[in-house]
Amino acid sequence: LYLFRQRSPVLTNYETVRVALEERTYDIQIAHDWLDQLGSDFDAHLGTVEHVACICDASIRESWGQTVGQALARPGRRVDTLAVPSGEASKSVEQLSQIWEWLLHQRADRKTVIVAVGGGVIGDLAGMVAGTYTRGLRFVQVPTTLLSQVDSSVGGKTGINLPAAKNMVGVFWQPSFVAIDTATLATLPPRERISGWAEVVKYGVILDADFFSFLEGKTLEIVANDASTVVAAIRRSCELKAQVVSADERETTGLRAVLNYGHTFGHAIEATSGYGVYLHGEAIAIGMQMAAVLAHRLGRVTQEFVIRQCSLLTAIGLPTTLPADLADIPALLSAMQSDKKVAYGKLRFVLPTKMGHVELVGNIDSQAVIAAIEACVN
Ligand SMILES: NC(=O)c1ccc[n+]([C@@H]2O[C@H](COP(=O)([O-])OP(=O)(O)OC[C@H]3O[C@@H](n4cnc5c(N)ncnc54)[C@H](O)[C@@H]3O)[C@@H](O)[C@H]2O)c1
Repeated sequence: LYLFRQRSPVLTNYETVRVALEERTYDIQIAHDWLDQLGSDFDAHLGTVEHVACICDASIRESWGQTVGQALARPGRRVDTLAVPSGEASKSVEQLSQIWEWLLHQRADRKTVIVAVGGGVIGDLAGMVAGTYTRGLRFVQVPTTLLSQVDSSVGGKTGINLPAAKNMVGVFWQPSFVAIDTATLATLPPRERISGWAEVVKYGVILDADFFSFLEGKTLEIVANDASTVVAAIRRSCELKAQVVSADERETTGLRAVLNYGHTFGHAIEATSGYGVYLHGEAIAIGMQMAAVLAHRLGRVTQEFVIRQCSLLTAIGLPTTLPADLADIPALLSAMQSDKKVAYGKLRFVLPTKMGHVELVGNIDSQAVIAAIEACVN
């Protein structure tokens, strides 16, 4: 598929989202089929760079990794590429240490620029490398999954997992530039691509009712991976996440918590169903539906809201219910209690009040939570 993809006949029209973070402000550039022109944009944002260390997901090393490597090649510049095994297991202390050693071997110095080519795993890992090697290197992200394009490449959270705790060790480290090419989504397994739309729908529910309506009108285009719809949806998603991140860069004011809509339930579903049964976005889609039902039971939204959200998720091909054999309610409740975001043992949920608006609600009765889960079991 990669080899036979069509070149776009016209000059690329970029969408640009600026993430405003004082001296850490950076641009996200979004378009379809432009990675082979990345070099000039890289030069414009980074200036003269003599050494690029490209950290690439092994499964796309020969495709997108090579495109990026060739696009960045310049006389007087060395581009070294390291292929990192695909998958969550690479977000480890061992892998991080191997990359540090590799950089040392490549004589990387403080002027080296790290380029991450891959999904959220590579972005989180390479970002942590960039934030730590020689106390900080400049960093460019080329996210190649929908999830990484709309979520993990915006906001500067980087990190690795401990054996018993996901994303437990990391640093906030903002990239200098993010390059999103929606053509990369053509090689992504369809299930991975669809899974990423859960986060896109989430932005509509939590922050932008008009965006939610836009998505409702574009479900056929979404399923067909229509380029202009995908570019528009990614642009708005990045804009909305960037607004939240700009107002609460380090999750100190609580505002950034709205991004966790559906995630308390979703993380518990991921943990109890066994990692790998659900992709992240699929678990979040079910989690959003449980949160919507919970909000309805607490009198915060109408039944119509619950049905609208369910219809959009379903039309895109995302799940909204949990099969009975995976619905172990005591295990789900206990997983929610151990979620990093639980404050002093009290369950808190991000719940909608209307389309485009959510609030953080504490002290929720566990019977209401159980009833919301049960309503989403089939
Ligand atoms: N930093 C943040 O703010 C943040 C936010 C959300 C999620 N995350 C993290 O992101 C990670 C999940 O990201 P993800 O869903 O992108 O997973 P991923 O990076 O594992 O990529 C998913 C799969 O797609 C493959 N792949 C990547 N790009 C491809 C392409 N263009 N064509 C074909 N295959 C491709 C990968 O090899 C992998 O098998 C998790 O570790 C999560 O913790 C971080």
